[in-house]
Amino acid sequence: MASNPFDEDCDYLFKTVLIGDSAVGKSNLLSRFAKDEFYLDSKPTIGVEFAYRNAKVGDKIVKAQIWDTAGQERFRAITSSYYRGALGAMLVYDITRQETFKNLKKWLHELREFGNREMVIVLIGNKSDLCDSREVDVEDGQNLAQLENLCFMETSAKENLNVEDAFLQMITKIYEIASLKSLEAKKNEPNPNLDGRKEIIVVDDEIAPIKQNGYCCTS
Ligand code: GTP
Ligand code: MG
Repeated sequence: MASNPFDEDCDYLFKTVLIGDSAVGKSNLLSRFAKDEFYLDSKPTIGVEFAYRNAKVGDKIVKAQIWDTAGQERFRAITSSYYRGALGAMLVYDITRQETFKNLKKWLHELREFGNREMVIVLIGNKSDLCDSREVDVEDGQNLAQLENLCFMETSAKENLNVEDAFLQMITKIYEIASLKSLEAKKNEPNPNLDGRKEIIVVDDEIAPIKQNGYCCTS
């Protein structure tokens, strides 16, 4: 699934994570985005897996390294290492199970405890193809996103609806923040002596936080 993260074909490498209750479709969203594959009979994730995909943002190539872990507590790997260095998170619930929406509070709490303050968070209501079994209204997702200052989208990994858009929205927003940081760093250091085109994005809590509402939206 994974390609070499250190190859020469990207300008940026961003780590992002998927979180949310078990069986909301995290692994299938990832396999849809990374390989355009969907599995009706996928097994619960045990521990941590990850995949890469390159995306073009403006004239830059961004390699997204996307981590996927178990929704089930007993299968989860050490939480702090999962979040370490992550610049974006997809917080996923299942529109056909109200409980997965209620549990978002717990996931948001964990995100804020372990995640970086500047992390871009995209709220995802997955399984939009199952509208006859819907238990969570679109408006509920939109309202929560507004309240918590998150991006929001409903997706279907099965029907490949909005999956690409959701990941690309997250990657683009991370890129915007990273570019601003890079500009700030250049301003402070007029002769940074970079050896060419590559830039290393350092996640540093000491740098003043960039206000998230400048970069996030609710759609
Ligand atoms: P854990 O690894 O246990 O945390 O679960 P997960 O969130 O990774 O869920 P997974 O991707 O394994 O999907 C769980 C089940 O939901 C599987 O049977 C998938 O086929 C199904 N599923 C995932 N996405 C969709 C979707 O968009 N629509 C429908 N109808 N089913 C989906
Ligand atoms: Mg999984």
